[in-house]
Amino acid sequence: MDKIIEEARIVYQERVLGQTFRLGLHSPEIVSAARPGQFVMVRVREGMDPLLRRPFSFSRIYPERGDFEILYRVVGRGSLLLSRLAPGEGLNLVGPLGNGFELPGKESAPLAFIAGGIGIAPLLELIARITSERGKKGAEGLRLFYGARCADELLPEDALRMPGLRVHFSTDDGSSGYKGRITRMFEEVLAEGEFRPCGIYSCGPLAMQHSVAKWALSTDTLAQLSMESLMACGIGACLGCALPASTPEDPGAERFVHVCEDGPIFLAGSIKWKNIPAQQTAPPTWPFN
Ligand SMILES: Cc1cc2nc3c(=O)[nH]c(=O)nc-3n(C[C@H](O)[C@H](O)[C@H](O)COP(=O)(O)OP(=O)(O)OC[C@H]3O[C@@H](n4cnc5c(N)ncnc54)[C@H](O)[C@@H]3O)c2cc1C
Ligand code: FES
Repeated sequence: MDKIIEEARIVYQERVLGQTFRLGLHSPEIVSAARPGQFVMVRVREGMDPLLRRPFSFSRIYPERGDFEILYRVVGRGSLLLSRLAPGEGLNLVGPLGNGFELPGKESAPLAFIAGGIGIAPLLELIARITSERGKKGAEGLRLFYGARCADELLPEDALRMPGLRVHFSTDDGSSGYKGRITRMFEEVLAEGEFRPCGIYSCGPLAMQHSVAKWALSTDTLAQLSMESLMACGIGACLGCALPASTPEDPGAERFVHVCEDGPIFLAGSIKWKNIPAQQTAPPTWPFN
């Protein structure tokens, strides 16, 4: 599908908590082709400053009104400028980009969603789709494991209320929910023996994703991970978002894939974890951005 360039209109801009915002955009052409797990490249301001577009996932998609939502955290200049925009203003977008999540079948197999911090964003639309397709009864085997550094960085429970979904919270400092990493909580819940997922969808920091992948591979569970990378173009042109991985055509071999075009969703087993450069966890400052 061709990428669409569209001038979207801001419908709403709300602070959800701390440095986290919800941005509602009217963008009917992009919305008509968007799927959970895909993203848009946003020109946060006209002109050369900042030069590059910024990638943001679809956190909700509303095809009936041609709108979608971005849930984002202010971490630098681009996201700060974004947070200052007001309803009625325009925003230039390219999208939908990337492959998106593979949706599960309609049957009621138990699924786990694992989110770290702002990694909750792309999972929200995915969970909404699955719960609405399954209906309340079938959604009962759906669990969200959602962790953040502290309570101030966790979305309120109301924002996560979906039919049949059970949510487990954790914070690193213990200020809300389980104290410790969300992946540890996940493993402890599984050890209780009541819940065993047939599939996992996950988005969050690299160390969390690696830990999810290790568990999934050791138990032969299918895991789809939404991977992050610094992105300059978002369309496979700059080669800046390379990730060491294998491809379905040649699972034994290693080559570099591109998070923007081949991903951002990858199967846990396709990523060559030990060969991911260290700067993926602490990305270098761009020479220009
Ligand atoms: C496919 C994809 C989807 C994304 N979806 C969301 C989303 O839904 N919500 C959201 O809040 N963020 C999302 N991000 C991350 C978001 O793109 C960055 O936070 C944003 O580009 C930062 O721009 P900035 O100008 O504010 O910060 P910059 O000034 O560019 O950077 C500030 C700091 O954040 C780091 N940083 C920048 N981009 C990334 C990145 N991609 N991964 C890790 N660290 C980064 C920089 O190295 C620097 O330390 C997504 C990233 C990708 C690749
Ligand atoms: S961001 Fe340019 S190739 Fe992926």
